Amino acid sequence: MTNPEPLLQVQDLRVEIGERRVLEGVSLEVPAGALVVQMGANGSGKSTLGLTLAGHPRYRVSGGSARYAGQDLLALTPEARGRAGLFVSFQSPPEIPGVKNNLFIRSALNAVREARDEAPLDAFDFLGRAREAAALLGLPEAMLGRPVNDGFSGGERKRNELLQLALLQPRLALLDEIDSGLDADGVRAAVQLVRELRAQGTAFIVISHYLQLIESLEPDAMLRLDQGRIVEQREMAPLPGAPHAGYKGLLGAARTAQAV
Ligand SMILES: Nc1ncnc2c1ncn2[C@@H]1O[C@H](COP(=O)(O)OP(=O)(O)OP(=O)(O)O)[C@@H](O)[C@H]1O
Ligand SMILES: [Mg+2]
Repeated sequence: MTNPEPLLQVQDLRVEIGERRVLEGVSLEVPAGALVVQMGANGSGKSTLGLTLAGHPRYRVSGGSARYAGQDLLALTPEARGRAGLFVSFQSPPEIPGVKNNLFIRSALNAVREARDEAPLDAFDFLGRAREAAALLGLPEAMLGRPVNDGFSGGERKRNELLQLALLQPRLALLDEIDSGLDADGVRAAVQLVRELRAQGTAFIVISHYLQLIESLEPDAMLRLDQGRIVEQREMAPLPGAPHAGYKGLLGAARTAQAV
């Protein structure tokens, strides 16, 4: 039997910001339901990869390809990528003055639900779910009624990213340093949420500098970026009975220190 196409397949991706080449030919695969950790020094291009996959207009793709769920990801508008179940959290979540948080998240959720052929949630139903998710994440309910991230502390902004993740239930989530700025309870809530979503089949790319968080997520694979290239790629030994034991075949045996 042939391996099915991975959920995300990035090949030789080259990305420029202005005149500067920031990604120099990045290739990676993320099978459905897998969790891949992306590490690398400051400025190595980790956030660039995430924002490029999300379709941020500042990042110009000058070569390579990205396929997601059987489609040419790069040909899709950012909103079509979101509707197709791609979620990218911000390393520094921006404020959106004048846009109420609950309306913002409900609009996003209903767009995703429409794409999944699910009925839209009215304000009442949405609020019930949002309150429940916010409570699990330790985010005060009042944050739902305020403009998006307006005056939120650093940790509150990260919890608000997690709230969106919890409600949108994406197929692939890229979390960019979701742990930075979170207190101990926040990190625990983040780990718990990732575990729950993963058990339901969500795949993850987790960017982090912190080994403790990485270990607690039990990743399938880790890769390290350096100056816009993947210089190390390791798969973790699958735990006995782990659901993603098939990952080994896709990444190939330790393409470690793949000097490109
Ligand atoms: N507008 C820009 N013009 C020029 N260079 C830029 C621009 N935006 C980003 N860069 C550069 O692109 C490089 C990659 O940035 P990126 O944010 O992807 O790094 P990172 O790996 O996420 O780092 P960190 O760990 O600090 O979050 C950095 O050297 C950064 O200075
Ligand atoms: Mg970054």
